[in-house]
Amino acid sequence: MEYIHYKKFVERYQSSGIETPCFIYISDRIIENIEILTNKYKQKSIQVEFAYAIKACSLIPILKLINSKIEKFEIQSRYEAEICINAGIASKNLIWNSPRKSKTDIEFAINNGISVIIDNYSEGIDFLELSDEKNCTNFGVRQSSTNTNSFIRKNHKLGFLFDDLTRFLELCIEKGKYPNIFHYHTLARCDSVEDFSVHIDSAISSLNYIHENYGYTFPILNLGGGWDCNTRLQRKGLRSSDFVDLTTRKIENLNYKPRSVIFEIGRNFIEDTAVVACKIVRIKKIEDVYWLVVDVVTNLLVPIPLARFEVADLHKEKTEKFSSVICDGTCSPNGIIVESCLLPRMNEGDILYIINCGAYTTSLIEPFMEPPANIVLFQNDNFEIVIGNEQMRDIVDKFHG
Ligand SMILES: Cc1ncc(COP(=O)(O)O)c(C=O)c1O
Repeated sequence: MEYIHYKKFVERYQSSGIETPCFIYISDRIIENIEILTNKYKQKSIQVEFAYAIKACSLIPILKLINSKIEKFEIQSRYEAEICINAGIASKNLIWNSPRKSKTDIEFAINNGISVIIDNYSEGIDFLELSDEKNCTNFGVRQSSTNTNSFIRKNHKLGFLFDDLTRFLELCIEKGKYPNIFHYHTLARCDSVEDFSVHIDSAISSLNYIHENYGYTFPILNLGGGWDCNTRLQRKGLRSSDFVDLTTRKIENLNYKPRSVIFEIGRNFIEDTAVVACKIVRIKKIEDVYWLVVDVVTNLLVPIPLARFEVADLHKEKTEKFSSVICDGTCSPNGIIVESCLLPRMNEGDILYIINCGAYTTSLIEPFMEPPANIVLFQNDNFEIVIGNEQMRDIVDKFHG
């Protein structure tokens, strides 16, 4: 929480009387993260655009705030499309990127003018068929970043492998349907200019190959998101604009000049903008470690792979610090919020401030509910729906605000 004036923030929170657990999004910080980029790239020879990837945080008030600064939003499901439309975002400004699109989803996207980024060959066939009669020029293709992204390499889950991509492009050219966006998502939590450089080189070499072999040019290059949050980039002496500057320099190596470059930023805009205030309800001392059990649970601060929550150190002046773990009170062994930190001697009832909670926390409620499940009791050979999927959907809808 380098960016917040600790004492003032804590004083304000305590005098607000709002009970723990409490999720606090700091709007100035959201705007600052966005403006660092949007202000810098207003006038460039290649247009640089920023979309917000709503999977990082899809709360409607936050989307409205972000929409006051940027127009384009990236979504991964029909439900996310609807959330954006409810928040007042024009459907023509939505980019739909995910391997989960059904035929009905594709039809919905085409009818609403949403840009579809085709993820794989079979989806591409459906798209060409469904858009056959329509003059649909706003769509793209995603190349799997398997050669630069070890996280994705494991499972080939996202995007076309290059051979399938060129096979699909051949089909598009044959049918006279030309994708205008080439999408290549960066590494998850990218915090190195060197890694990012390899990534762009790889995208450019694919684009040059396609140009040389098919004479095909993509007007829009979409490099996805994946950048770490600014708080952590700053610790490494980096700024988010370093990634953009590198891109605009590297694009000189492309055989042609694209019209624009889009970045779909999630965590970099939102991760370091939220703080969770929680109360210590129990302290367990096990060997030399203090286990601080708090009143926020890990269905909000989800310990997904790559989650890195931190606790604000409000006690810099105290020299005696103890090894501590912050965990929730559930019976899940995964319910660890901060694995290891140094804190002064705490007491039950003290409040802790968990920082960098803005991305992939509240929004993870949504994939658990998409589509929402029916809860059914099977009894005496009968199925009784005890909580219907509509009711489940209502819960999530209410949650989004
Ligand atoms: C296609 C696409 N765009 C954007 C993002 C946003 O990534 P991040 O929040 O790491 O910036 C993701 C994340 O998974 C993604 O898959």
